[in-house]
Amino acid sequence: MKIKDNIKIILSCIIARPYVNVVDINLTTRCNQRCVYCEIGEGLMKAEKDLLKLKDLKWIVDQMKHDSIPTLVLLGGEPFLFKDLFNLLDYASQHIADITIITNGMRIPGLSEHEIAILKRSKCKMIVSLDSFHPETNNTIRGVDNAFENAINAIHILLKNQIPVQIETVISEYNYQEIARIVKDADALGVSSVRFVPVITTSNFPAVEAIPNKNDLNPKPDHMSILEREFHEILAYEKDHAIETNIRDLQKWMHYYIAFQADSSEHKDAFFTYRLKRLFCWTLYSRIKISASGEVQPCNLIPSPITIHDTPTRSLVETWNRSCHQSRMSMKKQMYPRQCNDCYSHHSLNLFLSTLRYPLSNRASVRALLHDAVQRFRR
Ligand SMILES: C[S@@+](CC[C@H](N)C(=O)[O-])C[C@H]1O[C@@H](n2cnc3c(N)ncnc32)[C@H](O)[C@@H]1O
Repeated sequence: MKIKDNIKIILSCIIARPYVNVVDINLTTRCNQRCVYCEIGEGLMKAEKDLLKLKDLKWIVDQMKHDSIPTLVLLGGEPFLFKDLFNLLDYASQHIADITIITNGMRIPGLSEHEIAILKRSKCKMIVSLDSFHPETNNTIRGVDNAFENAINAIHILLKNQIPVQIETVISEYNYQEIARIVKDADALGVSSVRFVPVITTSNFPAVEAIPNKNDLNPKPDHMSILEREFHEILAYEKDHAIETNIRDLQKWMHYYIAFQADSSEHKDAFFTYRLKRLFCWTLYSRIKISASGEVQPCNLIPSPITIHDTPTRSLVETWNRSCHQSRMSMKKQMYPRQCNDCYSHHSLNLFLSTLRYPLSNRASVRALLHDAVQRFRR
C-alpha cells in the first residue's frame, strides 16, 4: 500500500469519515463444496437461484468508477457458479484495475480457453481456498472428495497462464498442526502468498443462524504451543523464500482469539477481556459488502434491510452510508454489535486505528504498538 493511502486511512480514522477502498460482492449462495465451517456447506443457508443481475453488477461497477473505489472482490457461494461471471469480468476490467476472485477452484480445470483468456485479460488475482496439503484432510474439511485435486489443478492452470495465485487457509482443529507444511508446499507450487484466518464463528450469512457450536471448530488453548511452533517454522522459512504469509500479524493475536473462543462464560467480551477498551472498526468506513440478494451490508457479518434496489436514485456510497449509520453510531457509544465479538479484524489494523483514535481508553495497547513499529523499522 502506498504512503498516500496510509495517510488517507489514518485521516479517515481520526475524523471518522468514510474512505471506501473495497467493494465485496457475494455473487451467489450456490456452492459446489460443503465446508464444515460454512452455513452453506452445513445446509443452513439454502442455495437460491441467483438474484443479482448483470445490469445490477454493471451499475455497481459504474458507481465504483464514479467514486474512484479501486478494488472489487468477488466471492459467494462459489463465484464460478454465477452464470454471468465472465460477462461481469469483461465489463469490470474496463473500469477497475484491481479485481480479486476468491474461489475453491472446483470449476477452473473445466474452463474453456476463451474463459481463461478473459481471466487473463481482466488481470484479476485469484485466491484459491485450500485447507491442507493432505488430500483427505482437505476433502474432509471442504466436504467433497475431489476438492484437493481440483484446487491443485486449478493452481497449476492459473499459474501456467500467468494469473497470480494466493492461497487462503482456515486454521481449524483439523489442520492447526500442519500449517508450516501448507506454506512450504504452496511455495513449491509457485504460489505468491498464503493468508491464514481462524474460523469465524458468527454466521457467514447474516440471514441465517450460525452452525451450532461453531467455535468448537477452532483449535483449543492447549493446541497453542503446537501452533506457536508452526508459526516459528513459517517465519524462519519466509526469511529465505519468496512466499509471504500473514503469520507475523496472526502470531500477535491468535492466542487471544483462541482463548476467547474457548471461553464458555456468558459474559465473554473480546474487547474488554483481552485487547481493546474501545473499538474503531475500519471496515465500517472502508468496505462495502453486497450480499447475493443485493443487501448493502455494513460488514459481512452484520445484516441490513437496505438493498441496491431500494433507492435507485441514490449512489452506492450513499446507500451504504445509510446502511452503516446505526452500527457506526452504536460503536461510538461503545455499544458493539454482537458480531464484533466473533470477528478477528480488531486484532490487527483495527487495533492500531482504535489506539490512534482513542489513545486514552486504549493506552494499554500503546506500548505494544510502539514496540511493533520499532521491530518493523529494524526489519
Ligand atoms: C465463503 S468462501 C466463498 C468463496 C469460495 N466458495 C471459496 O471457497 O473460496 C470465502 C472464503 O471464506 C472462507 N471461510 C468460509 N467460512 C469461514 C469461516 N467460518 N471462518 C473463516 N473463513 C471461512 C473460505 O474457506 C474461503 O477461503
